[in-house]
Amino acid sequence: MIKVITYGTYDMLHYGHIRLLERAKALGDYLIVGVTSDDYDKTRGKINLQQTLMERVEAVKATGIPDEVIVEEYEGQKIDDIKKYDINIFTVGSDWEGFFDYLSEYCKVIYLPRTEGISSTGIRTKKAFIRLGLLGSASFLEKVAAETEYVNGLDISGVFSENIDLIPDSLKTYPILTNNIDTLLSESDAVYIHSTPEQHYAQAKKAILSGKHVLCESPVALSKKECQELFELSSEHNVVFMEGIKTAYSTAFQRMLLLLKSGKIGQIVSVDVTCTSLRPITSENDPELNRKWNSLSAWGPTGLLPVFQILGTDFTKKTIISHVIESNNNNKYDSFTKVDFIYNSAVASVKVGRGVKSEGELIVSGTDGYIYVPAPWWKTDYFEVRFENPTDNKRYFYQLDGEGIRYEFAAFLRAIQRKQAIGHIDRSVTQAISKIMQDYQEEKDLLLI
Ligand code: CTP
Repeated sequence: MIKVITYGTYDMLHYGHIRLLERAKALGDYLIVGVTSDDYDKTRGKINLQQTLMERVEAVKATGIPDEVIVEEYEGQKIDDIKKYDINIFTVGSDWEGFFDYLSEYCKVIYLPRTEGISSTGIRTKKAFIRLGLLGSASFLEKVAAETEYVNGLDISGVFSENIDLIPDSLKTYPILTNNIDTLLSESDAVYIHSTPEQHYAQAKKAILSGKHVLCESPVALSKKECQELFELSSEHNVVFMEGIKTAYSTAFQRMLLLLKSGKIGQIVSVDVTCTSLRPITSENDPELNRKWNSLSAWGPTGLLPVFQILGTDFTKKTIISHVIESNNNNKYDSFTKVDFIYNSAVASVKVGRGVKSEGELIVSGTDGYIYVPAPWWKTDYFEVRFENPTDNKRYFYQLDGEGIRYEFAAFLRAIQRKQAIGHIDRSVTQAISKIMQDYQEEKDLLLI
C-alpha cells in the first residue's frame, strides 16, 4: 500500500485545496492530511485565520477525500509523522517548491502545481475588508500602522491627530491626514484610539455613536460609569468595542492564564507585578502630551491586567500609594505608584513607574509552586513554572511577533466579523481598570508619599 501525506492550513476551504487533496490522494492508496494548528501557523505569519482548528479539520474531513486527518502542532513534526505512519510520498503545492526537499531522505517528495487564482489569503482579504482609522498620538500610531500590515483585510483609511505637524513621514502616505475627527470617521469602518487618557472616552463614544467599531487603548475611560456607558452604547449600536492592552493578546500570557486555571501551582495566594520605564512611554515629541500619561495611566492597565485576570475583580480592600511629583489640571503626575489588593484568600501588588527603574517581572505564587515571568514580562515569549524541587521546573516558550500588536488587531478583525468582542479582556476587567483610574483621581484609598 502506498501511503501519502500532505499538510496545510485549509482556512476557508476552497477548490484550490480540494484539487490538491484529490491529486494527493491519486498518488497512492491512503492519504493522511495534516492540518496546521493556530499556534504553529502564527510562526509563519498566518495570524488571522478565520476558522478555528476544529472547523478547519471538520471541513477537510467533510471533503471525504482523506483517509485520516491529523493536527500539525510543532516544527519538525513532518519527519516524526513520516516515520510514525510509514509514509511513502510527501506532497504539497508548488508554492512550496524546494522547501521540503530535506524530507527526501525519508520518503519521495512531490510538488503538485498550485491552482491559479485562488488562495485563503485572497478570500480573507475580500471577506474582511475593513477601513481602519487611526486616532491619536502620532508616534505610537506609526508602530501600529506597520503592524497592521500583517493582518489581511485591514486597510488604513487615514490618521487623525490634533497636531498634524507631528505626524511622521511614514504615516503621510495614508489617504486622509486630518485634525477633524468627523472626516476620519466618515471614511472608516473602525477606529483605533491611542490619544491621551482623558480623550479616550469622548472619542470612543463619538466613534460608537457614528456606528464605528472601536479598539481603544487602555484606560478606555477614567471612571467606571463612563466605561459602562461605552459598553452599553456599543451594544445599542451593534458595534464592537474592545480594550487594547497588547499583552492580553500574546500567546505566552494566554497560556500562562490557562495553566494557572488548570491548578498547576495549586491555589493562588499572591500576584506580584512590576512595570517601569525611564523613558516616556509614548516616546512622543510633545512634552505636554507626555505628561498626560502618568505612571498609573501609562503602565497601570498592563500591571492590573494579570491581577484582575487571575484573581478576579472582587477584591475586599485596596490601597494606592503614590509618589506625585507634579499635579496639573487634576492630572497627578506620579513617578511611582504601588497598588495593593487584598482578596478573600490572596493578595496582589502592582508597582508602576515612569522615571523609576525596577525589574519588570511577574510572579504568581501558589500553594504547590510559582510562575515566574522574566522582565519585560509584558512582552515575553516565555515563562517558567517553578517548584520546591528544581528538577520539576518547566519552561514554556511561545512565539511573540510585534509585541502582540498584530495579534490584537487580528482579534479585533475577528470580533468585527463575528460581531462580538471575543474574550481576551473581560468587560469586568476593563471596568475595574477604569475604576482604579477614577479612585486615583478622586483620591479614594490613596496615600501620597
Ligand atoms: N493550494 C493549491 N492551490 C491553491 C491554494 C492552495 O494547490 N490555490 C495548496 C497549497 O499548496 C498547500 C495546500 O493547498 O499544499 C494547503 O494550502 P494553504 O496554505 O492552507 O492554502 P492557501 O490558500 O495557500 O493559504 P494562504 O493564502 O493563507 O497561503
